[in-house]
Amino acid sequence: HDERTFVMVKPDGVQRGLIGEIIGRLEERGLKLAGAKFMQIDEELAHEHYGEHEDEPFFDGLVEFITSGPVMAMVWEGADATRQVRQMMGTTDPAEAQPGTIRGDLGLDLGQNVIHGSDHEDPGANEREIDLFFDEDELVDWEKSD
Ligand code: CMP
Repeated sequence: HDERTFVMVKPDGVQRGLIGEIIGRLEERGLKLAGAKFMQIDEELAHEHYGEHEDEPFFDGLVEFITSGPVMAMVWEGADATRQVRQMMGTTDPAEAQPGTIRGDLGLDLGQNVIHGSDHEDPGANEREIDLFFDEDELVDWEKSD
């Protein structure tokens, strides 16, 4: 299969009813859904997922936010999927994100920035995050016609 990447609609995106909008954008772009799980992240998973930010002053708030309500965790597939999704997301701070990007169109808050996507500048981050959230048998290999 093509490259897989981990994408998550964060609690603010779920609360604001943006799951459909975000899935729609990824589908329309031509990416292929390989797995999806509507779930609530517990403390332990939050610490594992955001381990690299452990020493940041915003870490406690980040964990509190990401565990505050359900998220839509997904795996999307496509050529260069990780970088493509990052481009579609826009910059981390929605206030700086270009119009036309998900954050640029749908967000304004740095902490509550609607969506997570694996970092394309961190090799292996996509596979690591997919493994953290999904068992292999929860991912579907299927043919999408063009
Ligand atoms: P993301 O890149 O998906 O994962 C780490 C998150 O930490 C990031 O999104 C932001 O939502 C959050 N974050 C980064 N910098 C700050 C900051 N200075 N203050 C609060 N949250 C931040």
